Amino acid sequence: MSPINPGSTIGIVGSGQLGRMLAAAAQRMGYRVAVYSPESEAPASALADYNYVAPYESREDLQDFAQKSDVVTFEFENIPRTALDLLSAAVPVRPSPEALYTFQHRLREKLFLKSLGLALPRFAEVANRDQLLAALKEIGAPAVLKTAGFGYDGKGQYKIKSLQDADSLKEIWNGQTYVLEEFVDFEREVSMVAARGLKGEFAHYGLIENHHTSHILDYSLAGAHLHEQAAKQAAKMTRAIFEALNVCGVMCVEFFMRKDGTLLVNEVAPRTHNSGHLTIEACVTSQFEQQLRAVCGLPMGSTSYVSSAAMANLLGDLWEPQPPRWDRLLEHNVALHLYGKSAARKGRKMGHITALAGDPHSAREAVISARSALHP
Ligand SMILES: Nc1ncnc2c1ncn2[C@@H]1O[C@H](COP(=O)(O)OP(=O)(O)O)[C@@H](O)[C@H]1O
Ligand SMILES: [Mg+2]
Repeated sequence: MSPINPGSTIGIVGSGQLGRMLAAAAQRMGYRVAVYSPESEAPASALADYNYVAPYESREDLQDFAQKSDVVTFEFENIPRTALDLLSAAVPVRPSPEALYTFQHRLREKLFLKSLGLALPRFAEVANRDQLLAALKEIGAPAVLKTAGFGYDGKGQYKIKSLQDADSLKEIWNGQTYVLEEFVDFEREVSMVAARGLKGEFAHYGLIENHHTSHILDYSLAGAHLHEQAAKQAAKMTRAIFEALNVCGVMCVEFFMRKDGTLLVNEVAPRTHNSGHLTIEACVTSQFEQQLRAVCGLPMGSTSYVSSAAMANLLGDLWEPQPPRWDRLLEHNVALHLYGKSAARKGRKMGHITALAGDPHSAREAVISARSALHP
């Protein structure tokens, strides 16, 4: 199969910041970009050469978009599979609709991971109060109840410490499927961003360490040798996941690391990942360029770290009570990324900053102190 070369058009389904950074990488390499999303004035739309603002159910718009694109990829998890199936009748869709479908639903995802024999937290399917009580008996408290579909940044999650907690959840039983999962007393959270090319080449960025606040990623750090031993185990598991679905593209596996260094798979994002943003400055090839290379059937780029790095998210909270002091931030040696979102809401990812340093922990100090300068 011949590669999709610069000058061609990359179709991106979804129009958030992941699409925006992919579009920037694609344009730097001479590609055109078409963005398909129901939202107008979204982060990726501002950069797109062609915008398709339409519902995911619009056959006609999807067909136009497929015609315009030489390959289609996605940056958003909750796209109806039917939309990608329709596109894939006309143009290569990478990763496949099957991969998206598997990971966009927590129960399907967990059953798939279990079928591969991978270690993951104990879980049970739950759709009503009685099932919850039965599952709680089996799994034990504390546990976490999560909606099977459409969750992100901890939305649709309930921590259950007791039977009373379980009983107080009355309004949530509306026919939706939930997954009850054991609460993992982890030492830390790590992720592996990885890519698989059209010919099965596999490349990964090692383990990135992630720190969450209120279930939202707060900051990440990485460097060539961070958690090197565990990274070998993570790479094996990650590769197994990619191969089982014959994935072409970039995905990210989130892990819980226990005190003894062993890993449990938390979830898989079938796309680039917030924790991989630091690869833009820290690595020879960013996760976005890697996604582009993979879906275009080009050789994988080097995932080597040119430096250790840390990334801190900028949430909408930082716009209160006063607008952020960008002048103060930029006295620090950090790279600023803002996604062009007009409304700053609490918990909304508005941008991020990245710092490079001799080791991951110094890089973390640098981004944290730079971010605090936004509110002197
Ligand atoms: N079973 C669990 N045990 C302990 N912490 C959890 C568990 N599930 C989720 N969390 C915490 O909540 C965060 C978000 O949950 P996650 O399942 O990754 O959902 P999403 O990222 O889609 O919102 C995790 O990164 C972790 O910090
Ligand atoms: Mg997660």
